[in-house]
Amino acid sequence: MPDDTISPELITDKLPTRFVGQRVLYYPSVTSTMDVAREEARGKAPEGTVVIAGEQSAGKGRIKRVWLSPKGSIALSIILYPDVKSLSYLVMLASLAVVHAIEELTRLKLGIKWPNDVLINKRKVCGILVESDVRQGKVNYAIIGIGINVNNRMVDCPDLTPIATSLRDETGKEISRVKLVRQLLVEMEKFYLTLPEGEQIYNKWRHRLVTLGKRVRVQSGQTALDGITESVDEDGALLLRHSDGRITRIIAGDVNLRDY
Ligand code: BTN
Repeated sequence: MPDDTISPELITDKLPTRFVGQRVLYYPSVTSTMDVAREEARGKAPEGTVVIAGEQSAGKGRIKRVWLSPKGSIALSIILYPDVKSLSYLVMLASLAVVHAIEELTRLKLGIKWPNDVLINKRKVCGILVESDVRQGKVNYAIIGIGINVNNRMVDCPDLTPIATSLRDETGKEISRVKLVRQLLVEMEKFYLTLPEGEQIYNKWRHRLVTLGKRVRVQSGQTALDGITESVDEDGALLLRHSDGRITRIIAGDVNLRDY
């Protein structure tokens, strides 16, 4: 069984990146790594600083949801200072980096559910939250928050078993979280450095989406929209075709697949 201890030293030791993960702040327990990362970013922390927690007591999900971070999972936030043109690609590159990192360490097949849930066998293994502070067209900071169910077991959260899974549940084995975090940081930087050509990231992300060409119901705010997912725009918006042929462009929402 691999040793599953997490420490900043184990993560940064000879980490083959230029800046992502070269500074790691570890908190055994914290409200949310997003809160710490935000304070750090406001204090001009070096780009690529990672805040990682053993446990979060108030983890945040997309659309103001709560995110549970049980022991054995990964909860981390990465601070970046991209230019404004690159912002919409962060969601894409983060989900791609997670997919590549998990595929490097396991034989699992992963897919992305729009916009950035990472799925295995139709169940969510990772959630991603991107927060940014943009003023007068300038990005002050962006934070990518990533939560991965790794060695936690979903039987311990019975309400979530129909929709969520963990790497341990899928492989039957424990996985070293340090190895996974290191691989994730390498993949994050690799994609981040290709950002001037964001189109490449967009194309890779689009090909990994399991939600295209499917009959879905999209919950966007208070509105539920039915249709077929026609495509995604380069800014990440989902294009939903309704039965009367109209197309709605959806920027934020939750896709429920009906027949995949
Ligand atoms: C979602 O799918 O709703 C996004 C979940 C994002 C969870 C991660 S865990 C690390 C970081 N800290 C948080 O409070 N949230 C993100």
